[in-house]
Amino acid sequence: MRIAVTGGFGFVGSSVVSELADKGHKTFPLSRRNGFDLTEPETVRKKIGEIVPDVIVNCAAHGGSLHYVSEFAADVVNDNLRMTLTLYKAVCGACPSPLIINPLSNCSYPGESGIQREEEWWNGPVHPSVWSYGNIKRMLGVVSDCYRMQYGIRSMNFLIPNAYGPGDSKDPNRTHALNGMIIRMLQAKKKGDTQFVIWGTGKPVREWIFVRDIARVFAIAVDEKQERTLPVNIAQASGSSIGEIAVIIKRLTGYEGDLVYDTSYQDGAPEKVLDDSRFRELFGDFRFTPLEDGIRETISYYRGVLEG
Ligand SMILES: NC(=O)c1ccc[n+]([C@@H]2O[C@H](COP(=O)([O-])OP(=O)(O)OC[C@H]3O[C@@H](n4cnc5c(N)ncnc54)[C@H](OP(=O)(O)O)[C@@H]3O)[C@@H](O)[C@H]2O)c1
Repeated sequence: MRIAVTGGFGFVGSSVVSELADKGHKTFPLSRRNGFDLTEPETVRKKIGEIVPDVIVNCAAHGGSLHYVSEFAADVVNDNLRMTLTLYKAVCGACPSPLIINPLSNCSYPGESGIQREEEWWNGPVHPSVWSYGNIKRMLGVVSDCYRMQYGIRSMNFLIPNAYGPGDSKDPNRTHALNGMIIRMLQAKKKGDTQFVIWGTGKPVREWIFVRDIARVFAIAVDEKQERTLPVNIAQASGSSIGEIAVIIKRLTGYEGDLVYDTSYQDGAPEKVLDDSRFRELFGDFRFTPLEDGIRETISYYRGVLEG
């Protein structure tokens, strides 16, 4: 198949490109790096018209840390909404019947929900700390529904927990949480720091996913003939606490200092994991990468990029 991957040089996108290429698909990674700006309708229409992809995996986004998506809330909403509308409009005009796969972050679930179930996606407001980014992901769901209703454009929307793995930024302030902890602990080890500070009690439980597992699910999904009008969690229905993650990273990096918890920081919800009922119905025998294996590989990646 011919598969365009927007944001194809980013953290999730690059993993998707490599997995799909391994499966024998002809891939087209697209981003501003190669002149594809999703806020420019004419550029996008032209490029989609040239490629005529069977599938578009839409990994482009303007996101960042909790602090970032609040400080630049208007830019985040403006850019992401424009990117979404431009892509769907271009596909509609230039590409007969593609499937569009959208990764949606689970921060778009109601802020209060501990177990995140697809049928409850809209049952309450997004948490204020991710108001811009979470709501824009809900809008992506709305836009995909409306283009299906009027133009028959097929989409599959996946709700995804906290990703980690190789290929992310090496700036700990720009990476995802688990990758950031790996970077900071490797740096603490190198500097010989005697203490490693974790914000909060370390008790909140979160669900984590190795980035290559997202790509493996999408590689299965591109072969599906049917659209999914409802979103699907990529879910294991279990998580690990921040403290447990820190202990694993400490052991696997060989950091010898103490883990200390700064409880002046608030913890947030005690547990956030995704219900896996729908995922198991659709991807029954899928095996996720064990957490320790994924963390070990990520540490090895960051050892290379930080020292290289
Ligand atoms: N990572 C996670 O934990 C996670 C979890 C759940 C869901 N997701 C979702 O997965 C998607 C990808 O996330 P990610 O972590 O891979 O983000 P990322 O590393 O920041 O990659 C996003 C890519 O989008 C491209 N982009 C930004 N603005 C663009 C524009 N105007 N036109 C074209 N391309 C543009 C950027 O490339 P250029 O700068 O070269 O344009 C960038 O490489 C997002 O939708 C995110 O919500 C991620």
